[in-house]
Amino acid sequence: MPLKGKTALITGSAKRIGRSCALRLAREGISILIHYNNSETEAEELAESIRLAGGKAWTICQDLSEKGGAESLMERGLNITGGLDYLVNSASIFPKSSYEDVTPENFEENLQINALSPFFLTRSFAAMSKNAECVVNFLDTRIVDYDREHLAYHLSKKMLFSMTRILSQELAPRLRVNAVAPGLVIPPPGMTEEYLKERIHTNPLQKIGTLTQVSDSMLFLITNTFITGQVIFVDGGRHLKGSFYGL
Ligand SMILES: NC(=O)c1ccc[n+]([C@@H]2O[C@H](COP(=O)([O-])OP(=O)(O)OC[C@H]3O[C@@H](n4cnc5c(N)ncnc54)[C@H](OP(=O)(O)O)[C@@H]3O)[C@@H](O)[C@H]2O)c1
Repeated sequence: MPLKGKTALITGSAKRIGRSCALRLAREGISILIHYNNSETEAEELAESIRLAGGKAWTICQDLSEKGGAESLMERGLNITGGLDYLVNSASIFPKSSYEDVTPENFEENLQINALSPFFLTRSFAAMSKNAECVVNFLDTRIVDYDREHLAYHLSKKMLFSMTRILSQELAPRLRVNAVAPGLVIPPPGMTEEYLKERIHTNPLQKIGTLTQVSDSMLFLITNTFITGQVIFVDGGRHLKGSFYGL
């Protein structure tokens, strides 16, 4: 599938998994619109490194906790790039919350950033970009289980899972919508590798995944034009321990 000359918007791509996806797609000759919220320096450095390697990249800032932020990001992104073929929804927050302490504000923030923003980005992508081909959402292997320490996050990712399936039907046959659900890959911001090592027993393969394994899966979903509404768990089999009622 010819990818050279295509353009992708990747949310939250200044760092970590989003950054790795940006570099992976740029290696295929795809131009990248790097979205960030606070990480301007990292976003500019990434854009520069893509340009130095012969690729094309732009940066764009948007706080996705703002109502209307997703639509504004898409509109400005299309003006900058002149058209988008792919949308990768990687931006996310992962704050702690439990049954006892979750608040309406906490619920709202998680839903807004992790689920509603990808939904409205996808809807405006489909409506505004005539080249729109494919969306990849980032879920979490925890969606098949119950994560009592991150209740609001957990529910927002479950919602995004349902949205992936709903949108894949709403937007077919023009657009495909799929998802990658990572497991242990990189520790949450502020945590060390110890966080991952302590949890290695939670997946049957007893491994920590790599950024390359995650970004390769995202690329596979972009290139395979017969797949929609699908989730690839890149999690060492962790999802097998969950309940499919979770789905
Ligand atoms: N890391 C893992 O092992 C793992 C495991 C399971 C699932 N996942 C999923 O995979 C995806 C990528 O993971 P990650 O660990 O790379 O994510 P992350 O570092 O937690 O977050 C990615 C980016 O989201 C952006 N973001 C946060 N709040 C925002 C807001 N209000 N508006 C706009 N952008 C905002 C941040 O951008 P700025 O830095 O520019 O503010 C941040 O760099 C996420 O969807 C995550 O849930 C990751």
